[in-house]
Amino acid sequence: MTFAMDPIAFAHTPFSDTTQIPRGLGARHDAEGILQLKPELAPGLADIAGFSHLFVIWVFDRRKGEPELIACPPFDNRPHGVFATRSPMRPNPLGLTVVELLRVDGAQLHVRGVDMLDGTPVLDIKPYLSSVPAERLRRGWVGEAEARVAAKPPNGN
Ligand SMILES: C[S@@+](CC[C@H](N)C(=O)[O-])C[C@H]1O[C@@H](n2cnc3c(N)ncnc32)[C@H](O)[C@@H]1O
Repeated sequence: MTFAMDPIAFAHTPFSDTTQIPRGLGARHDAEGILQLKPELAPGLADIAGFSHLFVIWVFDRRKGEPELIACPPFDNRPHGVFATRSPMRPNPLGLTVVELLRVDGAQLHVRGVDMLDGTPVLDIKPYLSSVPAERLRRGWVGEAEARVAAKPPNGN
């Protein structure tokens, strides 16, 4: 089964190259960008301004290579199943980013926290409503990796 989708928007970000995008444990994503909606979809932004954060679902449109079910995150020294990671090399090349909504200007959403390349197609935008209490969140291998990397950085001696 396949699904055809059209982008609803394109992301304008400061990143022309993936090397410019912060990555790794503790990477801060505070770059600002604009989600430029197609003009005919702008009525769909009604009432969005009241939300502080948004989910952005987008396409890894410039990834190179084939999907890999085992991923090796750049900041860990152990492989993990791709669905336990945020690797771009997943079977369906979908990215998911939570951004802070700074302001709405017509068909433009000014946001903070972008981690996608300039010109990335956006498939959907939804309000972020977190209902999971912090004490019920488990961080899987990421917590273990933080401890391992702190003890022995991947590029360390
Ligand atoms: C690890 S992914 C995480 C993306 C998103 N936050 C997620 O969890 O799905 C972020 C990386 O994807 C790559 N990337 C960003 N935009 C891309 C695009 N349009 N096409 C291909 N790769 C992209 C960059 O290397 C960036 O550092």
